[in-house]
Amino acid sequence: MNLGELIYERLPSWLVERIITIGDAVEDKGWRVFVVGGFVRDLLLGRRNFELDVMVEGEGIYLAKVLSRLFGAKMISHEQFMTAVLYMPDGTRIDIATCRKERYKHPAALPEVEPATAEEDLYRRDFSINAMAIDISKERFGELLDVCGGLPDLESGLIRVLHERSFIDDPTRVFRAVRFEKRFSFSIESNTMRLLKEAIECGMLSLLTPDRIKHEWIRICSEENPQPHILRMEELDMLRWIDSSLSFRSQEQRLALSSIVSVEERLAGSNVSYERWLLYLMPLLDGATNEDIERLCRRYSISSRHLQAFLQLSLLDDVLERTRAKLSPSSLKRLLDRFNTEALIYALAKAISFGESHEMAKEQLLAYLEKYRHERPDISGSDIIGAGIPAGPWIGTALDEALKVKLDEGADRQRQLEVALKTARKALAMMEHGSQRRDTCSWEG
Ligand code: CTP
Repeated sequence: MNLGELIYERLPSWLVERIITIGDAVEDKGWRVFVVGGFVRDLLLGRRNFELDVMVEGEGIYLAKVLSRLFGAKMISHEQFMTAVLYMPDGTRIDIATCRKERYKHPAALPEVEPATAEEDLYRRDFSINAMAIDISKERFGELLDVCGGLPDLESGLIRVLHERSFIDDPTRVFRAVRFEKRFSFSIESNTMRLLKEAIECGMLSLLTPDRIKHEWIRICSEENPQPHILRMEELDMLRWIDSSLSFRSQEQRLALSSIVSVEERLAGSNVSYERWLLYLMPLLDGATNEDIERLCRRYSISSRHLQAFLQLSLLDDVLERTRAKLSPSSLKRLLDRFNTEALIYALAKAISFGESHEMAKEQLLAYLEKYRHERPDISGSDIIGAGIPAGPWIGTALDEALKVKLDEGADRQRQLEVALKTARKALAMMEHGSQRRDTCSWEG
């Protein structure tokens, strides 16, 4: 089958040109060059994917060097794996590899590789839908190479492994199977499902390093809607292998997870930035003990800032209770300022899942995240000092008061300064009065 026409039809012209340039780059060597893997799958599915995955029956790193000069791209190569990555000036990347066979010394080990034919390279891959290649060399441009039956599986929506040891060689494929199943609404073919369940039951996921698991979790959380992926992982009993602290201890957590996506949609246009992989761990850690949370963070080298975010989970019910009543903007800010953004987004998801009873909490959390979190007084400490107040701790108190009138009364800059100066003078007077009293007392004493 020739997909040349599809390439011209479905891809932007700059990408077609790029593919042709790559195919022609080593014409003199007579090597077969292909685009392969997820790129081919997505082209056939009509899904946008501009990240080329190239394999060459020759020397991948040599091809990468030639292309890096042609494209003015930055190159990083991994001799050991016979691969290279080109970082293009337009921000896209091209993965380039020598066609290769893989040998796994033991389950979950990183593979040892040796050069092979394009066909052999396809057989070492994870699933048939990811094991198709398109020849892009001049004479055979557009020819589909599909030795594993990827096209029929793509048409019937099936995730199928290519051999019985696939999940044992590389247990990250268990995560990948779930990811592709949910992303494309495909099914895991029955024998593949048997092998996948066996791999999970045998504890194959425990052989993966924390770094590799974390990487898979991050990829799942980069999907459009990670919720079905997470529920599927729970159904397949995968979560406990990531960590024993991850589970749905109550229906409340499930409902909160399903509300996260709507919160994300609501926040999409705003300036609230957060880390998704962290946010989607929240419902699974809600109700876990602090010891469990600390252990998980140590295991996955999660920073202390993120650890703090998880530890705040146990405080969120109190936050939700307090924000059910209308608070002044400054009180709201004072209450929420110490919380991490992801924790507050999760609190908002909880408020939504609680329904009408938490309508006020929902509104206030949203207002805080979108607006009040970033509010500062329109004056600075130097404005106060410039008006004759000496530097000292009262400057902070004065700025707090300026912000309070700004938020609660909509005070302009002039009024904020007046309030700040009044506060600072009062604090100073009290201090002086206090020290005079101390002097008198010590005299009297
Ligand atoms: N691959 C594999 N086994 C893995 C990882 C990757 O066989 N454990 C192969 C697949 O052929 C895959 C290709 O390497 O298509 C590229 O890997 P990657 O970029 O991780 O996957 P994509 O299929 O491009 O997935 P995504 O669409 O999520 O980027």
